[in-house]
Amino acid sequence: MIKFNHLAKKYNTPLYIYNFNDIEKNYISLKNAFVARKSLICYAVKANSNLSVLKKLSQLGSGADCVSIGEVKRALKAGIPKYKIIFSGVGKRDDEIEEAILRDILMINLESEAEFDRIELIAAKLNLTARISIRVNPNIDAKTHPYISTGLNENKFGVDIEKAKQLYIRAKNSKYIDPIGIHFHIGSQLTDLKPITDSAKIVAKLLKSLKVLDIDIKFFDVGGGIGIQYDDETTIKLYDYAQNIFASLKGLDVTVVCEPGRYIVGNSGYFLTSVLYEKENNSKRFVVVDGGMNDLIRPSLYKAYHKVEAVEVEGEVSRCDVVGPVCESGDFFAKDIDLPKLKHGDLLVVKSAGAYCFTMSSNYNSRGRACEVAIEDGVDRKIRARESFEDLIKLEKECL
Ligand code: LLP
Repeated sequence: MIKFNHLAKKYNTPLYIYNFNDIEKNYISLKNAFVARKSLICYAVKANSNLSVLKKLSQLGSGADCVSIGEVKRALKAGIPKYKIIFSGVGKRDDEIEEAILRDILMINLESEAEFDRIELIAAKLNLTARISIRVNPNIDAKTHPYISTGLNENKFGVDIEKAKQLYIRAKNSKYIDPIGIHFHIGSQLTDLKPITDSAKIVAKLLKSLKVLDIDIKFFDVGGGIGIQYDDETTIKLYDYAQNIFASLKGLDVTVVCEPGRYIVGNSGYFLTSVLYEKENNSKRFVVVDGGMNDLIRPSLYKAYHKVEAVEVEGEVSRCDVVGPVCESGDFFAKDIDLPKLKHGDLLVVKSAGAYCFTMSSNYNSRGRACEVAIEDGVDRKIRARESFEDLIKLEKECL
C-alpha cells in the first residue's frame, strides 16, 4: 500500500510516484518469458527516462532503446553498457549519428535509404564501421490508437520488405556499414497478439532470405508495444508472446531483442494531485485540481483513459469531470466519473501514470514540472526535484 497522504505532505503535489519493486517484477517476468532463447531487453527510454529508473533497470541487466542522442547519454549515465544500447528513430541529425558511432553502441536502427546514405558517409568520414539494423515496416495493422500505430505503409516508420532487402545487400558490400540486426515495431499499447505474430513471421522470412545471401543477422528485434491494463483491457500473455515469436524463428540462431516501455513502467506509476476546489456550471460538476495537462497530457492528446480515484475520502458519489488549471478546455484527467464530495486539499490519484506521462510533460502556462519520487521496499526517495521558477527562466535570464 502506498501512503499517498504521507507522500503528499512530504513532497507536495502534483507528484509522480514510481514503485520500483513493480518495475523490477515487470522486467523479470518479461525476461523470464524469453528464457528459452538468448534475449536482450532494451527498455524504451522514452516511456520514462528518469535517471534513477534507468539505473534501476541497468542493475537488473536491461539495455536501452533510445530515440535521440539525449536518451543515449541518459542510458550511459545511468550505467547501461554501450553494448546494450540501440539508437532508433525516423530522423537523426548528423551529430547524433556521429556521436552514436563514436560511442560504439550496439547498433543504430535505420529507417530509410536516405538515412543509410548519411550513416555511411559519416562512418566513412570517421573511418569507422557503423553497426546497424533496419526497421522493416511489415504493413500490418496493429489495431491500436492511430497516433501510436506504426506498422502500416501509410505510417512514416521503417522501410518495406523489398527496400530492406536491397539495403541489406548494399550494407554487405559496404566497408563502413555492418548489418547485425533486423527490427520491427508496429505500435504501442497492443492488446492483440496476432498482428505481432504476423509481423514476426514476415520479418523472419526476410531474415531467412538474407541468410541465404550470406548476410548474418544476429539480432531479431521485435520492438515494444505490449499493452497494459488501464481499465479492463484484456492483455497479451507474456508466455504466448514469447512463444509465438520463437515459433517464427525455428532453426535460426539469433538473439531476440525486445523494447518494452509501457509494460515495464506504466502500471508502476501514480500521479498524485490535490483538489483546489469544486465548481458547478449549471448542473455540471467540476473538480479542479493542481495538476494539469502540462503534467500529464495523455487524456487530452489521445482521449486516453486513466483511472482517477479519491484518496481516503468516502461518501456519496456523483458525476463530475476532473480538470486542471491550464487555459484549455482539453485540460482534463477524467470525464463523467463518480467521485465523493471533495474539499480543498483532498487528494486524487491518477493511475497507470508511469509511462509517457512525466516524459511528455511540459512547462506550458509557465508551470514547473512535478517532483518525482521512487518507492522501493517501503522506503521513499526523491528522484527529481520539483522545477522552480528560477529553473524555468534560467536559459532566458542571461538574454534579457
Ligand atoms: N520501440 C520503438 C521503436 C518505439 O517507437 C516504441 C514506442 C517502443 C519501442 C516502446 O513502445 P511501448 O512498449 O512503450 O509500447 N506517447 C504514446 C506512446 C508512443 C509510443 C512511441 N513508440 C502514449 O502515451 O501512449
